[in-house]
Amino acid sequence: MADKPIVIGVAGGTGSGKTTVTRSICEQFTDKTILMIEQDSYYKDQAHLPYEERLKTNYDHPLAFDNDLLIEHLHGLLNRKNVEKPVYNYKLHTRSDEVIDVEPKDVIILEGILVLEDERLRNLMDIKVFVDTDADLRIIRRLMRDINERGRTIESVIEQYVNVVRPMHLQFVEPTKRYANIIIPEGGENLVAIDLMTTKIRSILEERSLT
Ligand code: CTP
Repeated sequence: MADKPIVIGVAGGTGSGKTTVTRSICEQFTDKTILMIEQDSYYKDQAHLPYEERLKTNYDHPLAFDNDLLIEHLHGLLNRKNVEKPVYNYKLHTRSDEVIDVEPKDVIILEGILVLEDERLRNLMDIKVFVDTDADLRIIRRLMRDINERGRTIESVIEQYVNVVRPMHLQFVEPTKRYANIIIPEGGENLVAIDLMTTKIRSILEERSLT
């Protein structure tokens, strides 16, 4: 067991392939070693607001996330304690009543559009990754996913993209690329990048278990 868990941040715009990159890395390790945390699970709880109000929230702004809770949980995991991860419901636009009991692991991958935006999160990371995919591919993926999995209409996805997602991406997401140690073009299709990441993680794990 490594003395201190490794934290990897995977940022990038909506539909860039963060989840695919993260899953591909996870597949190279056993379930006992690696853990994936989605920043989306830490969208602020909006259960006190009516559904119509929740529709108006800007989900691409840094203030939409409960980073205080996320940081508290990361500290717990770094101290080898279990945490209760919230479960987010994209159809209802708020947290559900359930939580998931998450066990600490040697490697924690934190994935989300704005994980590199908060300095406190960056300071906890050993490796900072930005998945860089062209905007045309990202909007195509987002359209397909939001209609198929998140209960949206084509009109609502386009309206949200043009009026909120795109401007927020340019203002808050894209500028965090400068903090990345590694920029991965074309996300999950980039097998060389996945391989490099896996090798690096293994080498840190070996270094840390040598003490
Ligand atoms: N979002 C939304 N409605 C909510 C909460 C979030 O539409 N109630 C959207 C935000 O607009 C944000 C996106 O969810 O842009 C964040 O998820 P995204 O990065 O697209 O998904 P991942 O699977 O994490 O990333 P990737 O597509 O890169 O794998």
